Amino acid sequence: MSASISAPSHRGWLHQLLSGRPHQEVSTERGGIYLRRWFLVPHNRFVNIYLHKFVGSDDPPALHNHPWWFASLLVSGTYCEVTERDSRWRVAGRLVFRPARHRHRVELARDDSGREQPCLSVVVTGPHRQAWGFFCPRRNGEWRFIPWRNFSGGGCGEADHNNPEATLTNTVSRTGIRSSGVNSVRRNVGANVAGRVNDQPTALFGGRR
Ligand SMILES: [Fe+2]
Repeated sequence: MSASISAPSHRGWLHQLLSGRPHQEVSTERGGIYLRRWFLVPHNRFVNIYLHKFVGSDDPPALHNHPWWFASLLVSGTYCEVTERDSRWRVAGRLVFRPARHRHRVELARDDSGREQPCLSVVVTGPHRQAWGFFCPRRNGEWRFIPWRNFSGGGCGEADHNNPEATLTNTVSRTGIRSSGVNSVRRNVGANVAGRVNDQPTALFGGRR
């Protein structure tokens, strides 16, 4: 996930929804759209409902957390959810609940020719709870936290070289953030995966679903 993008205004929200065109298109750090999003209710600070069409996978190996808790109903398609612990396939009809601290990445299923197959989900998200970002694996088995703002096109590798502050201060363990530097990072992070809405974090799901 990348890019800071705005939620639709209340005035234009319904018109856009009825047109069938997505309110947002989210690209990966390497470019290329991976998510199309429709706001099923006007964006607000409390509870939001989205229709997500995933057309690409999250770039490995980074995991991401989310600014809010969310519940996701997979309407069609199949994807594999990769976490620190394991990888599990989710199929249509499956409803999952995830706290904001949950870290994952998503891999879409592929057809016989290797093309990723889109999937569709309805996602309900709660109020903003935390800054979100990416977690890059380290050789010692820990995970290094990189705020979304600092996660550039090179993914985990490039961030290592271009963001020495993150390298020094944002170390996390498998059980949570443990360095003192994270607090200052959180203050600096104002948006989430889906981007910003009038400077207020919105959706995605540090990604997704
Ligand atoms: Fe996600």
